[in-house]
Amino acid sequence: MEGAYERVVELAKRRGFFWQAYEIYGGVGGLYVMGPLGVSMKNKIVELWRSMFVRKHGFVEVDAPSLGPYRVFKASGHVDNFMDPVAECLRCGRKFRADHLLAESGVRAGEGAPVEELERLLNGNRVRCPECGASEWRVSRFLTMFETRIGPYSEDVGFLRPETAQGIFTEFRRIYEVTRERLPLGVAQIGRGFRNEISPRQAMIRLREFNMMELEFFMDPEAGCPYMDEVAGDVLPILTEEVAERGGEDVIEVSARDAVERGIVRNACLAYFMALSARFVESLGVPRSHQRFHGKPARERAHYSAQTFDHEVDVPGLGWLEVAGLAYRTDYDLRSHSEASGKDLSVSVRLPEPELVRRTRWRVSSMEELRRAAGDRWKDVMRIISSSEDPAREIAALGLRMEDLPLVREEIVEKVNVRRFYPHVVEPSYGIERLMVASLSWAYGMREGRVILSLPPRVAPVQVAVFPLVSRDGLDDVARRIASELSRSFDVMYDDDGSIGRRYARADEIGVPFAVTVDYETLSDGTVTIRHRDTWEQERVGEGELARRLAELLGVGGPARSPARSGPRSR
Ligand code: ATP
Ligand code: GLY
Repeated sequence: MEGAYERVVELAKRRGFFWQAYEIYGGVGGLYVMGPLGVSMKNKIVELWRSMFVRKHGFVEVDAPSLGPYRVFKASGHVDNFMDPVAECLRCGRKFRADHLLAESGVRAGEGAPVEELERLLNGNRVRCPECGASEWRVSRFLTMFETRIGPYSEDVGFLRPETAQGIFTEFRRIYEVTRERLPLGVAQIGRGFRNEISPRQAMIRLREFNMMELEFFMDPEAGCPYMDEVAGDVLPILTEEVAERGGEDVIEVSARDAVERGIVRNACLAYFMALSARFVESLGVPRSHQRFHGKPARERAHYSAQTFDHEVDVPGLGWLEVAGLAYRTDYDLRSHSEASGKDLSVSVRLPEPELVRRTRWRVSSMEELRRAAGDRWKDVMRIISSSEDPAREIAALGLRMEDLPLVREEIVEKVNVRRFYPHVVEPSYGIERLMVASLSWAYGMREGRVILSLPPRVAPVQVAVFPLVSRDGLDDVARRIASELSRSFDVMYDDDGSIGRRYARADEIGVPFAVTVDYETLSDGTVTIRHRDTWEQERVGEGELARRLAELLGVGGPARSPARSGPRSR
């Protein structure tokens, strides 16, 4: 529906889903408040995600700090790479995101275009400053992490995390140990992400502080995907990297299995999570026909990614919106943190059959001679040759020469039972606010001149409204009692204000799927009506049946769990 997005934003503010923060001081760009309905809806989205992504596979969830030291984000590559191009107007000094400014003027430049190219395009196309109309620009790179100090010493620089993921990678060793050292291992985290976006304009879409749901799926790169069979036939609408690179929009429809076999998706687990993602977003009310996976060409990908698909949904009145990034991060993060911290984050997996490997070993032919040649450094020499196949450099660092030492080189064949490697990671990463915008926009509709928010019952912020037909003759007392009883199992709203028609309308507008009405018949036979939001039809049920019937209609009662995860056991 044309303009639906604006109407959703207006409704969200008026009814209390979300609004701009610090309004009484004029508001701050990119900072939003989730109101009562927003929080309830957010919690429902989180629960649905947990059930589909975490519990279903027996994965675990952690909660790490939002604030981290410089060293973590230096090692992760964010300090050097987490930058956006900023264009500064040379007349008025206002700053804008360079690639967005170009896109708005109809000039195409990929996300990862170098600053020189962006500057040339802005100046060459005489793109005007939205503020003052001038068209002379300087483009530079802007670090979008929020920097701060941890503690009273100015040198202790820290950052607010731009993604929750690093708090999983840095803790990998311990998480792996407490989950009994098995792969695959899924580790989820739900929490705030912070990005100092250059020019956040669209409500709730480009925020400076937002809610993320991330899953880091650690796996053996040589093992297949244990979940593939479940989604093998699911059709994925993919805008391939190659098509995206050319600026094309054509989407191919391919099954999850074919996408892997044809090399379109380079990792089977990535394809699995794409299929799961499509199901998840569909259950938020966005039809599959309005979803796509946008393959990111190499220069548009984050520094850690070997392949990324942005999961995008077509939002009525807004266009394509990225709600999740699904990335194949390889062993980039664990390797980087191992190297930077000096702590080994690799794992070893027992091999099905022992393997024979050739190795070089160094032996001392005479200890006496070694003590004479190396003096008090002889112990260092022993340590070095016992841990390295090629010790020359380290020995030179001691100020000694290999040829002066009594060392004998031996080629041996060893039987090994384990393979050591850094687990590889596939990551689906969601922004909750964007999922909310997508879900609300698809739910928004009109009927007989009134707004109906047809949210899927599982994510509706209020599940049941309870109304007395009129608030007298004891109908209100019965309705209050029923509301209180139902509130043990559901999110319930009681309303006795105004005519029943107005109350239905108010409930429809915030997406309450079912309204229970207490009328005079209730007093005589103990039945109530359940009114369905989407059809306005009513059914009568006995009070004793009410909770069960509502649970059935709402589809709540706990999804079935799948068997425990499988995969090779590792030590
Ligand atoms: P964009 O290209 O829109 O800036 P991104 O590619 O930087 O997003 P990711 O780094 O993949 O986003 O982050 C994962 C998810 O987090 C996104 O798919 C989105 O849902 C959410 N997200 C990222 N940045 C923001 C933001 N500034 N405001 C709200 N949500 C965000
Ligand atoms: N973890 C998603 C991202 O920031 O890039």
